[in-house]
Amino acid sequence: MDSGAIQSVQRGGAAAEEKVHKVTFLPMNKTVDARTGISLLDIALENGIDLEHNCGGNCACSTCHVIIVRGMESLTAKSLDEGDQLEDADGLMVNSRLGCQAKIHGDVVVEIPL
Ligand code: FES
Repeated sequence: MDSGAIQSVQRGGAAAEEKVHKVTFLPMNKTVDARTGISLLDIALENGIDLEHNCGGNCACSTCHVIIVRGMESLTAKSLDEGDQLEDADGLMVNSRLGCQAKIHGDVVVEIPL
């Protein structure tokens, strides 16, 4: 069972339920709340966390490279394009992802390589 909380959100007059998850960014050890379907890059930028994104989140660079410390199963699957682009990332690891491509649906701990 997902550990995310459920919040009621009013949208256009209709109530909708959205799950909210915890995303922790290392090494700054900052934990923020984020909704299902939001990319790690957008979560970082919305919360003042500096994550490079030279191509603007279009899977055309590798500057948004992050390492998933915990919660890989809480992310959308890696596409072939993302896998190809990741090949150019410095310090590539088996649990590397592109922050702009990985969208959450559960709690995640993410390390931003220095
Ligand atoms: S911002 Fe360029 S690949 Fe993510």
